[in-house]
Amino acid sequence: MRTAKKLTDKVTWVGKVDWELETFHGDEYSTHKGTSYNSYLIRDEKVVLIDTVWLPYDREFVEHLRSEIDLQEIDYIIIQHAEIDHSGALLELMREIPDTPIYCTKNGERILKGHFHQDWNIVTVKTGDTLDIGQSQLIFVEAPMLHWPDTMFTYMTGENILFSNDAFGQHYATESLYNDAADQCELFAEAMKYYANILTPFSALVKKKINEVLAMELPVNLICTSHGVIWRDDPAQIIHKYLEWADNYQENQISIVYDTMWNSTRLMAEAIAAGIQAEDPKVTVKLFNAAKYDKNDIVTEIFKSKAILAGSPTVNNRYLSSMGGLLEMVKGLKFKNKKAAAFGSYGWSGESVKLLTEDLASAGFVIVGDGYRSLWVPDEEVLQACQEFGRSFVRSL
Ligand code: FEO
Repeated sequence: MRTAKKLTDKVTWVGKVDWELETFHGDEYSTHKGTSYNSYLIRDEKVVLIDTVWLPYDREFVEHLRSEIDLQEIDYIIIQHAEIDHSGALLELMREIPDTPIYCTKNGERILKGHFHQDWNIVTVKTGDTLDIGQSQLIFVEAPMLHWPDTMFTYMTGENILFSNDAFGQHYATESLYNDAADQCELFAEAMKYYANILTPFSALVKKKINEVLAMELPVNLICTSHGVIWRDDPAQIIHKYLEWADNYQENQISIVYDTMWNSTRLMAEAIAAGIQAEDPKVTVKLFNAAKYDKNDIVTEIFKSKAILAGSPTVNNRYLSSMGGLLEMVKGLKFKNKKAAAFGSYGWSGESVKLLTEDLASAGFVIVGDGYRSLWVPDEEVLQACQEFGRSFVRSL
């Protein structure tokens, strides 16, 4: 069990690794590999705590922190982002050191007050403001919408550390803490899932903020995120990944996402996939049943795709609810530069394809064709037509 880990002579990780977390943001984000809430203690001439941990671990956090330092010695608390996974232990901590100043952005002050309703000693900072803590200086950089309006980064001179809060993070529990000691496949899969599901809507701001920070030409030895690993080995690699992901990222992939009642739409999906693969053997085609497969993992696959096909039978003049939930998520994520079409089986009224097409369009997809629907159970002729639908879809991309 890791309760504290020295990163440099002056900086110690004092966060919490949460191996048990199954979902984050309520039930909105699946965390198959847990997460961590990273908090950092800086000991220069002044003592600074950067961020805390999620609320359920507040007592544990304060007790571990007390074993690391006399709490009364903490001169400043910096809350880079007031979401409860980082500010959750503040109440417990502030009971012990009620007068310690809390540094945050103006928006951070509003959110902390809205969350905790306390009259704490809050000092607001903006981009370019600094705090002298001895040999090192802390430089604050506001980073609104990475992930909330209040978010900011903190750069520590001398140690050359960028404390980036949510940016560059992953919901990924590791005992080793550093990026080079982690399973690289898992690490980058979780980093991409995190970007796709949380940061995609803010890609324009991500690009702008990264370029602004790069223009400051600050040397960076460590990127200390608030979730997952600390980037120690070639920290620039995750910055470059973010620039790639923020630039309407796509791979040579087509995802077929569907739900089915009595397998007719599934048979159509499989025939369409075969048609795509026959037409373009180099494209990666993946199928996902939206009712059975993890919704955040599907979102990540859509993020990677240049095009998607959405399928559902018609039920009660609509399409199936698993597709509805997924499209609602996708709409909010505002993917750009992706093409789409719809398909599905029907028995009598047959609205699902038209409705799916409309909702894909309103989610920002470029619609290719009118989609394809088939009556009752597809026979060999219909399956051939589905294959041809897949072939013509891939030709039109
Ligand atoms: Fe990790 Fe936006 O909180």
